[in-house]
Amino acid sequence: MNILITAGPTREPLDPVRYLTNRSSGKMGYAIAGAAAHEGHRVLLISGPTSLDVPDGIDFIPVETAAEMYEAVANHIGRMDAAVFAAAVADYTPVHVAVDKIKKSGETLTLELVKTSDILGSARREMRFGGFLVGFAAETENLEENARAKLERKGCNLVVANDVSRSDIGFDSEDNEALLVFPDHTEAFAKASKYELAMRVVQLVEGGNS
Ligand code: CTP
Repeated sequence: MNILITAGPTREPLDPVRYLTNRSSGKMGYAIAGAAAHEGHRVLLISGPTSLDVPDGIDFIPVETAAEMYEAVANHIGRMDAAVFAAAVADYTPVHVAVDKIKKSGETLTLELVKTSDILGSARREMRFGGFLVGFAAETENLEENARAKLERKGCNLVVANDVSRSDIGFDSEDNEALLVFPDHTEAFAKASKYELAMRVVQLVEGGNS
C-alpha cells in the first residue's frame, strides 16, 4: 500500500528568531512510518522538525509550518491508499510575521493569531481522499467522547486517542496507551511501546476496515 504519514510538531514563526511550537517529539509518527516500511509498504513521511532519524527506505518531506504541511499533504494524498495524521499541527499561527526581530518595549505584548487550515479535516472534503483515514486526538478530558466527535467531524476510519494529562505516556515518552475509536466501536490499547502501538495501527490500516 501507499501510506502517507504526518508527524512531529509544526513551527509558526513570529519573527526571524522566534516561533510558536508544541511538545510533540514525532516519535509516534516515526514509529508508524518505520513499522509500515517494515511491513513492505511504500511510505511518505511528512514531518515537522524533530531530532529523530528518518527510518530507512521511506520517502521524506521536511516541513516547518502548518501551511507547508498542508501543501505537502495536498500534493501527495491523491495517490495514497491510507493516510495517518500523527502530527501535532499548530491550530493557530501569528497573523503577522515581523521582518525584523521584535524588540522589547511595553510591559505586555499581545500576539494576534489566526486559525491554520485543518489538514486532517480537509482530507475528505477539499482533498477528496477516499482511502483509509487515521487521525489522532490528544485530550485532557472526556477522551472517548471527544475522540468520537473528532472521528465523525473529520470523516476518519479510526482515531487514536491519547490522554495527554498523563506524564507516563504520550508526547515525549517512549510508551503510549490509547483508545482506538472506530465508527462503530472502541478498543482499548493497553500501555506498550510506541512501536507496538504503531504495529497495531499498521495492521488496522492493512485490514482497511473497523
Ligand atoms: N490536525 C491537522 N491539521 C490541523 C490540526 C490538527 O491535520 N491544523 C490533525 C492532527 O494531526 C490530528 C488531529 O487533527 O490527527 C488532531 O486534531 P485536534 O487538533 O486535536 O482537533 P481539533 O478538531 O482541532 O480539536 P481541539 O479543539 O481538540 O484542538
